[in-house]
Amino acid sequence: MSIYVLGIETSCDETAAAVVKEGPLICSNVVSSSLFLHRRYGGIVPEIAFRKHLESIAVVADSALKQAGLKLKQVRAVSVTSGPGLQGALLVGISFAKAVAFALGIPVLGIDHLQSHIYAVNFSESVKLPFIALVVSGGHTNLYLVRDYHKTELLGSTLDDACGEAFDKVAKILGLGYPGGPIIERLAKKGNTSRFKFSCSGTKNNFDFSFSGIKTAVLYAFTKQKKKSLDIRADIAAAFQECVVSTLAKKALCACLKLGLARLVVAGGVSANNYLRTRMIQEAKKEGIAVYFPSKKLCTDNAVMVAGLGLHLFQKRPYSGFRMDFDYQA
Ligand code: KG4
Ligand code: ZN
Repeated sequence: MSIYVLGIETSCDETAAAVVKEGPLICSNVVSSSLFLHRRYGGIVPEIAFRKHLESIAVVADSALKQAGLKLKQVRAVSVTSGPGLQGALLVGISFAKAVAFALGIPVLGIDHLQSHIYAVNFSESVKLPFIALVVSGGHTNLYLVRDYHKTELLGSTLDDACGEAFDKVAKILGLGYPGGPIIERLAKKGNTSRFKFSCSGTKNNFDFSFSGIKTAVLYAFTKQKKKSLDIRADIAAAFQECVVSTLAKKALCACLKLGLARLVVAGGVSANNYLRTRMIQEAKKEGIAVYFPSKKLCTDNAVMVAGLGLHLFQKRPYSGFRMDFDYQA
């Protein structure tokens, strides 16, 4: 009989639930986002996210089970994002997962959000462990040595803004809306990468990142322009994206070379960016390194990756308890 795991993700603005089984195979994937409520504030408002999760979680979990054609009692374990993320938002998912697990008498597994982003690659690729992983999301920019999906060693991270946050802030400066990543990507296609020249600040540890300097440079460059035409915005977007992507590629590939690993996984919301995907593959090829990405749908927040890592852990050791480690971070 198949092992079905129900995954729950509520770390930010997406209320998500999914069921996966061995393979790993996706049985269902439901995401309900409260993004439209946050747009006019130009970023996520934690209190709104929290309230929306409360309203949606039971309906979303129910539709994930229906989509999978399952009854709740067929689920063998519940896995839930335990952090990092917004405290109130996480609490909704964790309380719900615990209640379900308690009612069914099955284990509940706390999942690290960033590790689950990396795990998402398993639904489309088969990557031999160990490897280097770069997670680029709205809240994090982390470089890892991955020995196993739950055994990751942090090599470096951002000293200031996260990569997705930089895309969002630059979009805001250019008056483009929120979230900025996909808008910048679209606009940059029409832009010229060489009209403006940006650079990312250096860091003492070569595996760390810094994106606040380039954001300020964009602000100055844009403010200086008399004509704030779409062409100017497109050229700035293109130069910004080019600089960020080449910095990410340089550092991630440097980690691969230094640690002698010819496999790189790039995950998290920003890894949905086509320019990044193409450039990473090109640069890696020169060094004989293979790059893997989750499918685009699984790059941004979802519960498939949470259920998947839950299943992976469940298969590694037979969790039976009801205890869960929390990792609350603002
Ligand atoms: O992983 P994610 O869905 O949520 C967090 O864990 O933070 O990442 C969201 C981030 C946002 O900052 C968004 O602007 C960025 O991912 N993003 C992109 C693209 N799609 C989403 N950034 C660049 N290009 C994209 N196509
Ligand atoms: Zn995420």
